[in-house]
Amino acid sequence: MSVDTQQLALNAPADAPAALIEWVAGVAELTQPDAVHWCDGSEAERDRLCAEMLAAGTFIKLNEALRPNSYLARSSASDVARVESRTYICSENEADAGPTNNWADPVEMKQTLAKVFDGSMRGRTMYVVPFSMGPLGGNISKLGIEITDSPYVVVNMRIMTRMGAEPLARIGAGEYWVPAVHSVGYPLIDAEGNTRPDVAWPCSDDKYITHFPETREIWSYGSGYGGNALLGKKCYALRIASVLARDEGWLAEHMLILKITGPDGRVYHLTAAFPSACGKTNLAMLRPTIPGWKVETVGDDIAWMRPGPDGRLYAINPEAGFFGVAPFTSEKTNPTALHSLSHDTIFTNVALTDDGDVWWEGMTDDKPAHLIDWQGNDWTPESSTKAAHPNSRFTVRADQADSISDDWENPDGVPIDLILFGGRRASNVPLITETFDWQQGVFVGATVSSEQTAAAEGAVGALRRDPFAMLPFCGYNMADYWSHWLKMGRTLGDQAPRVFQVNWFRKDANGTFLWPGFGENARAIEWALRRINGEVDAIDVLNGRQPKRDDLNAEGLDITAEQLDELFHLDPDAWATEADLTEEYFAQFGDRLPNELTDELTALRGRISDAR
Ligand code: OXD
Ligand code: MN
Repeated sequence: MSVDTQQLALNAPADAPAALIEWVAGVAELTQPDAVHWCDGSEAERDRLCAEMLAAGTFIKLNEALRPNSYLARSSASDVARVESRTYICSENEADAGPTNNWADPVEMKQTLAKVFDGSMRGRTMYVVPFSMGPLGGNISKLGIEITDSPYVVVNMRIMTRMGAEPLARIGAGEYWVPAVHSVGYPLIDAEGNTRPDVAWPCSDDKYITHFPETREIWSYGSGYGGNALLGKKCYALRIASVLARDEGWLAEHMLILKITGPDGRVYHLTAAFPSACGKTNLAMLRPTIPGWKVETVGDDIAWMRPGPDGRLYAINPEAGFFGVAPFTSEKTNPTALHSLSHDTIFTNVALTDDGDVWWEGMTDDKPAHLIDWQGNDWTPESSTKAAHPNSRFTVRADQADSISDDWENPDGVPIDLILFGGRRASNVPLITETFDWQQGVFVGATVSSEQTAAAEGAVGALRRDPFAMLPFCGYNMADYWSHWLKMGRTLGDQAPRVFQVNWFRKDANGTFLWPGFGENARAIEWALRRINGEVDAIDVLNGRQPKRDDLNAEGLDITAEQLDELFHLDPDAWATEADLTEEYFAQFGDRLPNELTDELTALRGRISDAR
């Protein structure tokens, strides 16, 4: 049965505007769902969807006494991560997508999508999910509507965004919104009317995660997992928002946001860009080991930043929840995250314990004697496979973390004092380096590289360039994005945040980590804040400015002077090789590469020769 426009208009909420109803009707005509449900975001709606998913086998209810109101979902083994190879930027001109994105012609992609979405929701309910990225009504926030045939997506979107009646009312009042269409691509009825039973995790082998920067639309087909399906996150808040930000003079970044209070009560805010699964959630919930310092969470993944009336840069967290990597979240690595998961959490692809709770690698030192693994099979410590998928996740409301800042929903955002660029580098990159200025900061951000993790497909461990940690998330040509950052620096002038590079992952010649990491990372940040306050001098080195060894607070740390020196060691020959690789990397951007970055490379080479 397909849904006609008139029927839709009848069951649409009173404040749904005509243009929205028309768009929803068009998608329904194409995808032919059995029913259309307009989500109001209520608890009753969530409870009904969870009950339906329990009955369908998509959700397993966890032990109510141990993990109240929480569920486990197991995805199909073929649908476990973002699929970058199937993610497209469909700009009118290929050059506008740039060499780091998959490009597809928008007209051809629309034809392909028309084919795959044709009847793709047959036998299912189509959900209309109005949402706000950022606090409702905030001047940095923006609205969207996701249409999806996945109730799993609906209940996750309810955690990850402000979803339901209120954003719809704002859309009804005429506010701007971005349309996003999602189908798991597993219709239950074919074109001839033959039916097939549903499965616990419907998806398709054929996947398209597509973005249309000119018309600012998102169409995602074939996956139910994470960023492929929760379209407010990577698709909207990064890929489409980066385009909006370029055009409107702001920044949409793959950055966490922290509030830090010093021993003297002074408050600072920082944002930090880290490639996926590089301990970003741990940093977002850092428990500093140095006395007197307090760190609170504003955001764990994405920052939208805009110059405020006083000329400073203000950031909001556009999301309302955390979609965090579960493995290695433990009492030792991130007690705050672990405790936040004690109730009202959706787990995906973790292992199930015999008493109906969850477990993942690294959660406890001792492995449980028996588990059901993420694929639903028996598992014991002797098993050769992992109990939880390396990219298994938790979805939890942000304010369940006791580190959440009072300011996390401030609609005006928080003023940013410093920006960190991080990555996972075994060699070459010191613990912390201050950049000389904004322009060099953009060069450092542009040249970030990191070892590949499990958050996307690909060989784990291989080194990949991940500029601004935005490689898979920039909705336009990366070189133009760097130009936009340079322009923002000119706008912000001396009000611009100071930029630092960090690396918690440096190893010695034997492959042992040189730095303890986690709560101790506060020591590096403390130095950066003291620099901002003009309290300490720094040493100029070939890639920026380093702490004088005595200024880095290493009190109580089990680290030798030699190890500290190694953490900051710069080998000019190795850096000359890095510079050559950067030149090669930049070459692919041709004449779109901003001259300022070529100048920075030349300046770096000059400093390398001086150091030789
Ligand atoms: C994420 C990612 O899921 O960066 O946040 O992959
Ligand atoms: Mn991320």
